[in-house]
Amino acid sequence: MWLPCGRASRRVVSSFSRRVFRSYFHVEGRRKFNVAAFMPEAAGIQGLSDRSTLQEFSVSNGESFWAAAARHRLSWISPFHTAQDCDLSRGRIKWFEGGKLNVSVNCLDRHVHTCPEKVALIWERDEPGSEVEVTYRQLLEMTCRLGNLLRRRGVKKGDCVTIYMPPCPLAVASMLACARIGAAHNVVFAGFSAEALAERIRDAHSSTVITVNQGVRGGKVIELKKTVDTAVDSCPMVQQVLVAMRTENPVAMTARDDVVCEPAVMDSEDVLFLLYTSGSTGKPKGLVHTQAGYLLYAALTHRYVFSYHDGDVFGCVADIGWITGHSYSVYGPLANGGTTVLFESTPIYPDPGRYWEMVQRLKINQFYGAPTAIRLLLKYGDQWVHKYDRSTLKTLGSVGEPINTEAWEWYHRVVGDGRCPVVDTWWQTETGGICISPRPSDPDAEIVPGMAMRPFFGIKPVLMDTEGKVLTSNNTSGALCISQPWPGMARTIHNNHQRYIETYFSKSFCPVPTGYFFTGDGAYRSKEGYYQITGRLDDVINVSGHRIGTAEIEDVVVSDDCPLPVSSGVYTFVVLKKDVDVQETDLSRLLNDMVSKKIAKYACPDFIQFVHRLPKTRSGKIMRRVLRKVVERDLNGLGDLSTLDDPAAVQEIIQGHRELRGQQQQQQQQP
Ligand code: WTA
Repeated sequence: MWLPCGRASRRVVSSFSRRVFRSYFHVEGRRKFNVAAFMPEAAGIQGLSDRSTLQEFSVSNGESFWAAAARHRLSWISPFHTAQDCDLSRGRIKWFEGGKLNVSVNCLDRHVHTCPEKVALIWERDEPGSEVEVTYRQLLEMTCRLGNLLRRRGVKKGDCVTIYMPPCPLAVASMLACARIGAAHNVVFAGFSAEALAERIRDAHSSTVITVNQGVRGGKVIELKKTVDTAVDSCPMVQQVLVAMRTENPVAMTARDDVVCEPAVMDSEDVLFLLYTSGSTGKPKGLVHTQAGYLLYAALTHRYVFSYHDGDVFGCVADIGWITGHSYSVYGPLANGGTTVLFESTPIYPDPGRYWEMVQRLKINQFYGAPTAIRLLLKYGDQWVHKYDRSTLKTLGSVGEPINTEAWEWYHRVVGDGRCPVVDTWWQTETGGICISPRPSDPDAEIVPGMAMRPFFGIKPVLMDTEGKVLTSNNTSGALCISQPWPGMARTIHNNHQRYIETYFSKSFCPVPTGYFFTGDGAYRSKEGYYQITGRLDDVINVSGHRIGTAEIEDVVVSDDCPLPVSSGVYTFVVLKKDVDVQETDLSRLLNDMVSKKIAKYACPDFIQFVHRLPKTRSGKIMRRVLRKVVERDLNGLGDLSTLDDPAAVQEIIQGHRELRGQQQQQQQQP
C-alpha cells in the first residue's frame, strides 16, 4: 500500500513531532509490522518486528535473504543449490549456482500465461501523441521472431550481439531475443560516434549488429545506419547487420509465421550482457552482468525503491543505451510484469512541457529522470508543469548525478505537488541496480533533499579514509565502498579480469585487494547515518548525467590525428606545445569537431581555456580538484596548495578563467 507524504519541509517536522509525542505520552503508535504484506519474499523470515530488522537481517544474513528473494521472484527451470559463493578479495562473485533459468521467460512468458493482453511497453515516440502500446503477448511474439531470425543467421549461445538503437520496442525485443537464445547483448548508446561504436563492437567481438535505418529525436532525423556502416568498416569480425525500419508497426521487420522460439536453458552465472562505461583510462570497459543475480536485483529494486504496484505505469526516461535504461526501462519492470515507458524524445520537444504532458496522457505513476533535465526544466518556469494533470504520480526518482537542493525542491513541490516522495537513487553501471535511496523505508520516514540516504536490502556501505582505514563514526566523509557482495554487481570486465580486480577491489593506497568494493565516489555520512554522495574521486566526470573519463577526451585531444601539436589537455584546459602559433578560436573549433567525431557530441567541451601550464603535484599528477574549484569559482575551496610544484600556475589559471568568462558574458549581452 502506498501512503502519501507531506511536503519535504513539513515532513521532517511531522515525523519528529510524532516521535516526541509517542515518547512523551507512551502511545503505541506503530501497527504491527506485517512482513508478508510488505515483502512476500521475506514472509518466511522469523522474528522481524519492523522494517529496520528486515534491513538488518538482509545484511547480516545476506545469503538467506537473497535465496528467499530469488526463489520467490524468479521462475527457475531448475533450482540453485548454492545461493552465494563470493570472495571480494579475489573478485570472485557467484550467485545462485546450479540454478537454470531463462531471462526472457522471466520477463515475458510467465506474464503471457497470466495476463497476455496487459501492456508491457508504451513506446513514447518523438512525436507527442503517437505512442504505440505493445502487450506482453505481442512482445513475446516479436522476441521469438527475432530470436529465431538470429538463430537462423547463426548466432549461438555465448555470442555477443551489438545493438545500436534508440529506445523502441524492437530494441527491447532484440535484447530479450539475445537472452532467449543465450547470446549476450551489448547495447551501445545511439548518440555515440562511429568510432566509439566500432571500438565497442571490436572489444565485444560481435559478428552481428542490430540497428534502425534512422533515428528521430527532437524532430531531427539521425542517420544511425550510416553511422553503423562507417563503424563496421573498421570491424572485420562483423558478418551481418540487421536493420529495422523505424515504423509504427512493431512487427514489420521480422514478419514470419513461426512465433515459437525455444528458450535456451541458461546457468545463473552465464553472461546476460556487456555494457561499456567510462573508467579513468582512455579505454572504456565492458562491464559484464550475468543472468539470475542481475535480474533479481533489478526486479527487487524496481519494486521496492519506487513502490511499484501491479497496474502502475512506470516512466523511466533514460535511454536504453545506459544502465538505467537496462535495469529500469527493461529488465526490472518486465520481470515484475509491469508496464514500462520507452521515451524516444527530449525533455523540451516540442516544448518544455513534454514530460508532464506525457505523464498526463500516459497516466504515469512513477517518473524516473535525471537532475540535468530537472535543472533545465526548472529554468523554463512552473507554468509548463501546471498546465498538465500530474495527479497519477506517486513517486519521483532522480539518478545519474547529485541533485542540488533547488532542483530537488522544485521537483518535489512543483512537479509532485508536494505529495510524492522524491527518491534520489545512487548506483552505477557496476552495481546493476540502485544501492542507496531514501526508499524503501517506513512510509512516513523523513526524506532529506538531495540525499540518497539509506542502503537497499543487503547493501552495506562503508566510508574509507585515504589510508584505507574504515571510518566508523557519523558526520564524516570518505571514499564510498560496499563491504559485502550483492547479486546485482558486475562480475568482471570483459576480457580483463585483472583490470576488474585492480579497479574495484584494490586502490593505490592499498594495492592488495581488500575485500571491499570501491565505487570511485566520495560520500558524506550525516549525524543520523544518512549517506550523501559528493561526487567522483577519480578522473571520471559527469556531463549532463553522462559519464565520461577525462582520459577519453584527452586521448582524442592529444591524438596523432590532431594536426596541431597539443602537449596536454584536461577537458577544457589546453596547454599548447612551445612556439606554436595558432588562433585559439580555430583550435577550439577543431578540438570540438574531433571529440564529437571520436566520442559523441555530448562530450564536447563547452569551454576551452588555453593555459601555459597546469597545476601539478611534485610527482607530476594534475590537480584536477583545483581546476574544478576554479571553474566553480569556489576560490575559498581551493584547499591545500602546498603540494603543488608551482603554485603560480593556479593564479594564471584563475586570471585566464576570469577573462574567458568576461568574454562569454559580453557575447551573451550582444543582441
Ligand atoms: C554518479 C548511472 C550522485 C556517481 C546509474 C556514479 C550519482 C556514477 C547518483 C555512475 C546520485 C549516479 N547522486 N551521483 N543519485 N547516481 N551518480 O555508471 O558518480 O552511468 O558513480 O550509472 O554516476 O554512472 P553510471
